[in-house]
Amino acid sequence: MSQRIVVTGGAGYIGSHVAVELLSQGASLLIIDNFANSHPEAVSRIQELANGEVVLLERDLADAAHKGDIKKAVATFKPDGAVHLAGLKAVGESVEEPIRYYRVNLEATITLVEALENAHAKTIVFSSSATVYGEENPNPVDEDGKTAPANPYGRTKFFIEEMLKDLAIADKSWRIANLRYFNPVGAHPSGRIGEDPNGVPNNLFPFIAQVAVGKRDTLKVFGNDYQTRDGTGVRDYIHVCDLARGHAAALGYLSKQTSGCAIDVNLGAGVGYSVLEAVAAFKRASNREIPFEFAPRRDGDIAEIFANPSLSKELFGWQAQKTLDDMCADHWRWQSKNPDGYNS
Ligand code: WQD
Repeated sequence: MSQRIVVTGGAGYIGSHVAVELLSQGASLLIIDNFANSHPEAVSRIQELANGEVVLLERDLADAAHKGDIKKAVATFKPDGAVHLAGLKAVGESVEEPIRYYRVNLEATITLVEALENAHAKTIVFSSSATVYGEENPNPVDEDGKTAPANPYGRTKFFIEEMLKDLAIADKSWRIANLRYFNPVGAHPSGRIGEDPNGVPNNLFPFIAQVAVGKRDTLKVFGNDYQTRDGTGVRDYIHVCDLARGHAAALGYLSKQTSGCAIDVNLGAGVGYSVLEAVAAFKRASNREIPFEFAPRRDGDIAEIFANPSLSKELFGWQAQKTLDDMCADHWRWQSKNPDGYNS
């Protein structure tokens, strides 16, 4: 791929892995990141892991005062398209601060679209989420599943999907892929880039990893009375490197389209694992005890969700390859080598 790609949020957890994958496939990148939930060190490590042109723009896509700089930098870079990952992503925080979530996530997208339009680069791969699905869909969930996001974060993802589809209807030259991530976990096998959450991790894997490395005492398992095989929540965990390959595959698919399109595609492994199964796998990978205690269910959680991954295979020729043990081994390598993330 000799494409020139804008990667918003390219210093973040998913973004840094997408950046390494695209560079390794020959792309040149313009990374736009405000480092609100990422670290400049991640950009250095991206360049350590993969050769290729990386232009870094430290700006906030949701800040109106930065629009001019962003538009100018994108036009100068002469992109073929963009992977749009920048945004706020904490479900609980979105419930407490809904307007901030709507403003930031939607404004950032509108700024990006305007900059791409100005640069005549009408291709976007958007970081959506399985959170757009409701609880009513039977598993495995496919892209025709009912969309009923249960929180403001999930609704920002859904609204952005719809906004991009409206754009592709209004201007048939836009090529859009909304990638609905299930649960990204793991890290690049080098152990040099990985998930580095601010404060107490909301998500399961980074919390387990911090217990394993001794940063947290014990894991709270939110609910053991769900109608699942062991009573704990079941999710479709996908290795972040598989996810990154899925973005490159989506860009390749869009670049081959002779006319505009707007597609929704699941990125999942198509397999569900419970919290207790994830804990056991991490224990195997780290050879560390993972003390846990059962706690009440977390508001907004659903019992079980995993993907029907067939559309991504059909359209992109992509499917997840790494196992749960691979995810745990790679996540553990990152955590143990970088106990304090990029500040280690
Ligand atoms: C997984 C399972 C919890 C933490 C969220 C967002 C989704 C996406 C991924 C951004 C559940 C249980 C968790 C803990 C636990 N984010 N759990 N103890 O909720 O499936 O998805 O993150 O795109 O949009 O909704 O992921 O990792 O938080 O939870 O028992 O300390 O682990 O109940 O069953 P989730 P998660």
